[in-house]
Formats: sequence, structure tokens, C-alpha cells
Amino acid sequence: MYQCNLYSNVVSALLLASIAVSSTALAQIDTALGPQLNIGHRGASAYAPEHTFYAYDLAMEMDVDMLECDLFLTKDEVLICIHDSTVDRTSDGSGRVQDFTLDELRALDFGSWFGIKFSSAKIVPFEEQLDCYLDHNPLMRFHVETKDSAQGRAEAVLVEVLARKGLLDTGDIQTSTIVMQSFDASSLKRIKQLSELPTAFLFARRTSFELLQWVASGNGPDYIDAFAPNSAAIFNDPTSVQRFHANGHDVHTWTVNERTQMDYLLALGVDAIFTNNPDILRAAIDDKGSGTSPEQRGNPSDFKRGCQGIAGRVVSNKGPGDVWARHDSGRGVVRVEKAAASDLTNYSGPRGGD
Ligand code: G3P
Ligand code: CA
Repeated sequence: MYQCNLYSNVVSALLLASIAVSSTALAQIDTALGPQLNIGHRGASAYAPEHTFYAYDLAMEMDVDMLECDLFLTKDEVLICIHDSTVDRTSDGSGRVQDFTLDELRALDFGSWFGIKFSSAKIVPFEEQLDCYLDHNPLMRFHVETKDSAQGRAEAVLVEVLARKGLLDTGDIQTSTIVMQSFDASSLKRIKQLSELPTAFLFARRTSFELLQWVASGNGPDYIDAFAPNSAAIFNDPTSVQRFHANGHDVHTWTVNERTQMDYLLALGVDAIFTNNPDILRAAIDDKGSGTSPEQRGNPSDFKRGCQGIAGRVVSNKGPGDVWARHDSGRGVVRVEKAAASDLTNYSGPRGGD
């Protein structure tokens, strides 16, 4: 009997606490600093193998504002899109990414682990991701994460590649074709020393006194433009969104795949959400009426899947690749130089999606 009462008291207390949290949260409804953005996390990675052309194609079809790329350097210093430091989970190979050359990675199957129909999925060099989706849509934007600085080489190569491609200076945190993100504040600091790329600082738990101060004050060092807490950090501290906004910082949160959580976070006024399910987030933002317009996103409704002439052509961090320039309107880019199409005779990458 005692145990039964105790149980019911605990349940009631939890219920009351959750209502109190909800009420507090409801009082914190805020307005985003700009249109609320839909970021395809590793592409539409709920439906296709992450960081492959299949997943990026699908994300574009689901009408995202931005595509995410987690970056690593290969042994021959080519920037590629992959989340883990090894290829074990997402390919039929094994070993550290940094120990493979690009050519060696191209020989691996990055799709079968997700589903046999994706067995033709290949590694995607970052430059091919850029050129492919800018070719489909020059308004597409990219949220790019340095996963491993490699003693500063990742930032150096990245800025060199983006400078060669004319993509360094295309706008601010709300318009730039490229936004940089990292859990490592020193990586963002290096980026800002080398360029004016907008930056977002990723965090989950408050693991340092410095971070505690940034979150408490809603402000941080000059090299951080946006703050990017995971969704749990916002659920635990909903007023943090207002504090960051009060200091002019956008808030980009991750990784949110359920509609109720999306609705709650959108109501709090977050500026962008990373999701594996861009279709669900598109509906949530559209229902709220707080996103970009289809014209501002620019995604073609009938694009031909795949990256013909682009997939397979990068051989080093010198390309080959296209050259772009900021569009006169201040949104998106225009291609000013097209690289020669690749010789795809030995390349078995995807010609189209699933
Ligand atoms: O970049 C946002 C989010 O992706 C951070 O976590 O581990 O998925 O890269 P992770
Ligand atoms: Ca990431």
C-alpha cells in the first residue's frame, strides 16, 4: 500500500513538474531572427544512406534550405563528407578515414549498410557536394562541420578550397552559401582568422566554465556568430533561445526528427533545425508559416537526380571544380567558370537516386 502511494505521489510530482516546465516554456515563445530554416542532417538520412548523393538528392526533393556536411581530410588531403573518423559503420571497408586516399575511398560501397538498393553509393568529396547542388540550385546553402582539425590543416585546406571556388564571401549567417560549425571553438576561431565565413558553435552539455558563461549570458567571443545547442540543451533551458537572440546570435539546434519536438522548438523561435526527416520539418515550418518562400529556397521541383559530369571528377584539393561568385542580389551564387566534365568511364557512382 505504502509503495503504491509512493509510486502515485512520484508520478503526480513528475506530472506537475512537467506541466510547470511546459508553462515556463510557453512563456518563452520568441520570434526567430529570420526565416526558420530546414537543414538536411547528413542529407535526408532517415531515408537514404547518410552523406551520399542519394541522401542529398532526397533532401533537395524535400525542399531543404541547407545541406549538412561533416568534414574529414583524406590521407591525400581531400575534404570529404563523412561523419565518423572511421569508415567501418557506413561502408564495406574498415579503418581510419585519414589513412585512406580519395581513390581508395572511392572503391568502397557506402550504401549497402543502409539497404542493398543503395549499393552503388560512393564517398562524396565536399567539392562535389557543393558543385552538384549549386548546379541544381545556386541558392542552396551548406552547413559544414569540421570534425577533425588535423592540427589546423582542415581549416587551412577548407578556406583554400572555398577561396578557389569563390565561395568565401557570399553573405552573413542568414544568407551565406557556406556556414561553418564545430564542437571545437578553436576550429571556428581558426576559420575566422582565415576568412569571414559565418560560424555556429555546437554544444550539448555545458562542459566548461567558459561555455557555462556563454550560455548564461547568451553571448560569446567574436568568432561565434550562431549558437548550436542540441535539442536537449534547449528543452532544459528554453530561455537560452531568448538570451542568444538578445545578443544577436541565431540559434541552430540538432537533431530533431519528431513533429511535436519540431513544433515546440519552432515556437521557441529557433532559427534553424537539423533533421534526418526534412519532409516532416518542411510541413512543420510551412504550417507555422515562418520559413523561407519556395522562391527563396530555389529548389527545382523536377530536377534529375544525380550529379552527371560532377560525381567522380575531384582528384585533389585543387579540384577540378566549378568557380562561383556571389549573386548581385545578395542571395545565392552564380557560376562564373565550369570545370571540364569528368571522365566517368571507370566510375560507378550513382547516376540517379533510388
Ligand atoms: O552538426 C549538427 C549535429 O550533426 C552535430 O552532431 O554528431 O551528428 O555531427 P553530429
Ligand atoms: Ca554534424
